[in-house]
Amino acid sequence: MRRILVTGGNKGIGLAIVGAVLDEHDDTFVFLGSRDLGRGRAARDRLVRAHPSWADRSEVIELDVSSDASVHQAARWIRERSRNEGTPLYAVVNNAGVGGASLPLASVLEVNTFGVRRVCEATLPLLDPERGRIVNITSAAGPSFVASCSPERQRFLTDPGIEWSSLAAFLAECLAMSGGKPAFEAAGLGDGNAYGLSKACANAYTLCLARQHPGLRVNACTPGFIETDMTRAYVESQGKTPAELGMKTPSDGARAAMFLLFGEPEGNGRYYGSDGLRSPLDRYRSPGSPPYRDDA
Ligand SMILES: NC(=O)c1ccc[n+]([C@@H]2O[C@H](COP(=O)([O-])OP(=O)(O)OC[C@H]3O[C@@H](n4cnc5c(N)ncnc54)[C@H](OP(=O)(O)O)[C@@H]3O)[C@@H](O)[C@H]2O)c1
Repeated sequence: MRRILVTGGNKGIGLAIVGAVLDEHDDTFVFLGSRDLGRGRAARDRLVRAHPSWADRSEVIELDVSSDASVHQAARWIRERSRNEGTPLYAVVNNAGVGGASLPLASVLEVNTFGVRRVCEATLPLLDPERGRIVNITSAAGPSFVASCSPERQRFLTDPGIEWSSLAAFLAECLAMSGGKPAFEAAGLGDGNAYGLSKACANAYTLCLARQHPGLRVNACTPGFIETDMTRAYVESQGKTPAELGMKTPSDGARAAMFLLFGEPEGNGRYYGSDGLRSPLDRYRSPGSPPYRDDA
């Protein structure tokens, strides 16, 4: 059995990843992470009603990625289960995320960047050292944010040798910045878009983590532009249907993550587009265009 933890697995793209894993790989067991046990159980109940055999291959686990206590408790539970079953964790999918113009930078970073690191740090000792994988669901907003930064900031956020200590110092600098957009612009950080910044930093952390753990496969991807609760307000504001806006379904949004979970991505610490092809960290690459290569 390959045991896989999916954070934010109770809805949207996370739930679609849970379903795709259970559907396509009989030898898997999924820990469906949910910060609210009730929402997690309701989501799993729906899956199990439609696919009764998935009952033995799934379990809800309470996991709020913004809380040290919650993450450690979840990791202890998984450790216990792995010990009983005699198999380490195969993979962690860091899918939980928040977005929205009204959210302050600190709240967005707490989930999208610090949350990813918190979960990785707690689960690294549980992962199979020879074939374990980490998949970070980031966003095309990350590279687009980097594209809006000064050359110096771009070099920093795409540096293959980046360390968590310097990334943490950078995040502290951003959190301490007052003065809104003009302050971010003056500091070479575009308009300081909180969501884009959080995802650019999650991509940079992916680089750092992969370098530190070369035995694991650690990569990031964007799911694409997907119709979920996260994008609902945007759709409503446009007065168009999701299809007219070019949006896809949560199942479509699970494809790149499935490739990084079970496929053979080249290299490590990379960022992939929703089409499962490698994409650059410092500019948007549209799905269907040629993959990014460092030497191109
Ligand atoms: N939709 C898109 O077009 C799009 C594009 C690019 C990237 N993404 C990324 O894809 C991922 C999934 O997004 P989605 O579109 O599926 O959004 P969604 O439907 O809003 O789902 C977000 C999930 O994250 C969970 N979550 C939020 N804060 C959490 C926390 N502190 N601890 C644990 N779980 C938490 C939510 O739980 P609750 O139900 O409890 O709130 C929910 O399960 C996110 O990382 C997002 O940034 C989405």
